[in-house]
Amino acid sequence: MYKIALREDLTPNIHLFKLVAPMLAKKAEAGQFVVVRIDEKGERIPLTLADWDREEGTITVVFMEVGKTTRKLATLGTGDSIANLAGPLGLPTHIDKFGTVVCVAGGFAIATIVPIAWAMKAAGNHIISIMGFRNKDLVFWEDQLRQVSDELIITTDDGSYGRKGVVTVPLQELLESGRKIDLVVAIGPTIMMKFSSVTTRPFGVKTIVSLNPIMVDGTGMCGCCRVEVAGQTRFACVDGPDFDGHEVDWDLLMARQRIYLDEEKRSVELWEEASPAPAKGEAHA
Ligand SMILES: Cc1cc2nc3c(=O)[nH]c(=O)nc-3n(C[C@H](O)[C@H](O)[C@H](O)COP(=O)(O)OP(=O)(O)OC[C@H]3O[C@@H](n4cnc5c(N)ncnc54)[C@H](O)[C@@H]3O)c2cc1C
Ligand code: FES
Repeated sequence: MYKIALREDLTPNIHLFKLVAPMLAKKAEAGQFVVVRIDEKGERIPLTLADWDREEGTITVVFMEVGKTTRKLATLGTGDSIANLAGPLGLPTHIDKFGTVVCVAGGFAIATIVPIAWAMKAAGNHIISIMGFRNKDLVFWEDQLRQVSDELIITTDDGSYGRKGVVTVPLQELLESGRKIDLVVAIGPTIMMKFSSVTTRPFGVKTIVSLNPIMVDGTGMCGCCRVEVAGQTRFACVDGPDFDGHEVDWDLLMARQRIYLDEEKRSVELWEEASPAPAKGEAHA
């Protein structure tokens, strides 16, 4: 069992768990993920490492409630435990001295891009971060990203905080400004990573994205996470999750992510029928 040493609610539906996992903490690197199983009958879901503390023996994940398993996870609180944690999995993000690196993130991925930004910073890069949210109430970890960034741009879709619009607008402006941008790292919803890659392509700026296809084992055996990159089939769990965004077949990825929509919806309904959801905050008060 892996104990939840700390739960924090970053927004109403995005939560942070600090988990006691000394062996994982020892090996964790930026860009890697863990596969979590809540209990013996639980589904296995991948979550990216948002932080780790080798001395304390803890890892941190940040997750957004989207379906049954993430909603079930959100009923747990500080002091509770989860059954299994496998990892660290996936290849770490390639860190080097590139020059100027633009880190683009949206939603829960703000937390997952922070360790990458720190590693890039430590390698001597100038860090420009662009973080995007739907509205002001969903903004979190602004301070964490500000600390590591030489420049920070915040956007909200409705303009309630920072600049109005989506992350690709300031990204396009930076590219058009004539400044030398050496690398873009874009992490977040698939549509955001796709359009970040579409934006950078005409400028020839290499763009790394962290793909999130459905995964099961996370170790290259089931084939579930297959994606097409540069015309070749790759397994995101072992060949990635980072890939060159200009080479990803985005339409195929998005189609595969939607394969089980009916089953996912039914799964939430069955879970709600079997165990009516507690009021927000009740289960982990
Ligand atoms: C490498 C990787 C890292 C990820 N890191 C994070 C993270 O740090 N924080 C976070 O909030 N989310 C992360 N995700 C996405 C997260 O795994 C899914 O949101 C979660 O599995 C949804 O499960 P569910 O039962 O709550 O929702 P469901 O209703 O089952 O699914 C909702 C959507 O989530 C996706 N999904 C469902 N099952 C899986 C699965 N087993 N593997 C991958 N995607 C799935 C599908 O697109 C699906 O349509 C990551 C995904 C990958 C592949
Ligand atoms: S998740 Fe099974 S091969 Fe990648």
